[in-house]
Amino acid sequence: MELTDRQKEVRGWLEKRRAILLAHNYQPGEIQEVADFVGDSLGLSMTAAKTPAEVIVFCGVHFMAETAAILCPDKTVLLPRLDVGCYMADTVDAPRLRARKAELPGVPVVTYVNSTAAVKAESDICCTSANAAKVVNSLTSSRVLMVPDRNLALYTARYVTKEVLYWEGCCNVHDGLTAAEVLSCKAAHPQAVFVAHPECRPEVLDLAEVIRSTSGMLKFVREATAREFIIGTEMGIIYTLQKENPSKVFYSPSPGLLCPDMKRISLTDVVAALKENRHQISVPPEIRLPALKAVERMLAVPRD
Ligand code: 13P
Ligand code: SF4
Repeated sequence: MELTDRQKEVRGWLEKRRAILLAHNYQPGEIQEVADFVGDSLGLSMTAAKTPAEVIVFCGVHFMAETAAILCPDKTVLLPRLDVGCYMADTVDAPRLRARKAELPGVPVVTYVNSTAAVKAESDICCTSANAAKVVNSLTSSRVLMVPDRNLALYTARYVTKEVLYWEGCCNVHDGLTAAEVLSCKAAHPQAVFVAHPECRPEVLDLAEVIRSTSGMLKFVREATAREFIIGTEMGIIYTLQKENPSKVFYSPSPGLLCPDMKRISLTDVVAALKENRHQISVPPEIRLPALKAVERMLAVPRD
């Protein structure tokens, strides 16, 4: 696809600054088009960890840029806007997690990467939606505490033999999807395969043919022989699904599957970030080092 003048300007600035642009699968299409890498949280962390670029521009939400800053303290990590938070990350904080840990001595804390650096620093190991069961299985204890997503914890508990304790957090975008909305979309499109994200509620996951992280969904659809799909995650991913699979049809089961934080960064913000070196994300060493341990422990768990 031919790049617009604004997109060319972004690419020009990326070259000038020897920068790499990382974008999450929920980002708007015009951002995905200029990115060097588009992926899920695990893929983005792995790419940040190994890039030789001097500057990383992160188009996603704050915790993702923070994860890059945890992994790459010597690089400049730029987040084009600071008002890109995450509802789920805000459902837990370090003091409350410390208090819960005191009630559960010896129980390792498995923290979803959708969390602040301060919360990661209180954790034994991180996980993403793509590797949660593998991460939990990599631990030797018989009980774990999963933080902050209740739905991801309940989903993971289906695939592990350990007792999974959970935090009462969630993503309001995914948790808002109801079984009734899915059933009505299925009734309207009886041939469609329902693919859901593990951040959805258990009763919604029970209706899914397939449960995957965002990049897992892209891979599944690419390889599937079915023609129609109901996409149980943030609707930004439909841009890439449609682009990669022009002959397949995608339905979003709810207008609520839209994360406003994932849509705030514009190409203009990206140009300004590269020109003015804003907004630099860094994590103080007393938080970065324990958080790094939890993230690196996760990255050491083998992928499929
Ligand atoms: P993944 O892309 O890792 O599946 O995460 C989904 C999400 O909610 C990120 O904000
Ligand atoms: Fe956070 Fe949910 Fe938005 Fe992902 S979709 S960034 S978990 S609020």
